[in-house]
Amino acid sequence: MAKSIAPAGITMVEPITDRKAALNSANSQVNDVPTSFRILQQMPTASLPPPNDDVRVVSAGEYKEAAACLAEAFAEDDVARYFIDVPDREHWSEADKWNLHVEILEYVTYAHCLKGLVTTVGPNYDAVALWMPPSKNMDDLITIFRSGMWRLNYKLSAEGKRRFFNEFLPLLHDTKHGVLGDRDDDSWYLVYLGSRPGARGKGYARKLIEHVTKQADREGRPCYLESSNAINPPIYRKFGFEERRRIHLQRAEKNVELDIMVREPVSQEKETEEKN
Ligand SMILES: CC(C)(COP(=O)(O)OP(=O)(O)OC[C@H]1O[C@@H](n2cnc3c(N)ncnc32)[C@H](O)[C@@H]1OP(=O)(O)O)[C@@H](O)C(=O)NCCC(=O)NCCS
Repeated sequence: MAKSIAPAGITMVEPITDRKAALNSANSQVNDVPTSFRILQQMPTASLPPPNDDVRVVSAGEYKEAAACLAEAFAEDDVARYFIDVPDREHWSEADKWNLHVEILEYVTYAHCLKGLVTTVGPNYDAVALWMPPSKNMDDLITIFRSGMWRLNYKLSAEGKRRFFNEFLPLLHDTKHGVLGDRDDDSWYLVYLGSRPGARGKGYARKLIEHVTKQADREGRPCYLESSNAINPPIYRKFGFEERRRIHLQRAEKNVELDIMVREPVSQEKETEEKN
């Protein structure tokens, strides 16, 4: 497959850099979908880490397959279900909820194909990682529309929207900025990482993480993530991530927690010293 193809991004004349502003703007324009976009400049989104023998970059044409892996991996994830298992959708069947879960992951995966980095490993998209490279984001209106993210405005219920737009996104945005400070825009952000249940324990997550952490080390940049499952922090600690903060989503009956973890870059000299 096209290992060397870098995902392309779009630079707008007036980029909207503030996530909340962009999403609020998208909210208010739900019935005002542009029918055409003027692409002013098309360029690679990041200097991508070179693919190795196993890990490869997912192209935009493969977003559904990559999203299917994440949908399976996050099928029972409390945060993924937080926007779907809502009181005003109690009448929905499990099949309807599953379809929405898959669709949300398709939008997010496609947005990362456009503006970030999507990698996979294994014969059947067995594990997938969505990364947002330094100084990139998916908050501009063109990406929100092209990826389908705008559809959340009518796909989510009223409560789902409150949870997603008014609680989740601002909390994540503010926490990342609070934890990383000046480095917020100069870090690698691991947005999603999942291995299919049948493909776990084969070292796939390790490969996907190290593919980028090696690059981050060379660049002297931190890596950032939110972990949505208490099982995960010990796994991430193996890769040098450390817990920095715990945040809570509080609109459901059960408190949903996320652990914020940061991995500081390891200098090449230190790595060599540790190996010897
Ligand atoms: C977390 C997850 C991505 C790990 O994927 P994986 O491909 O099985 O991970 P790997 O096989 O590469 O294992 C990486 C390391 O973590 C350890 N590990 C993996 N799963 C573990 C578990 N359930 N308990 C304890 N350690 C575990 C492995 O032993 C390995 O350590 P080692 O290399 O020192 O032996 C996978 O379990 C998953 O998709 N979970 C659901 C989605 C999720 O929670 N993703 C993270 C969201 S923040």
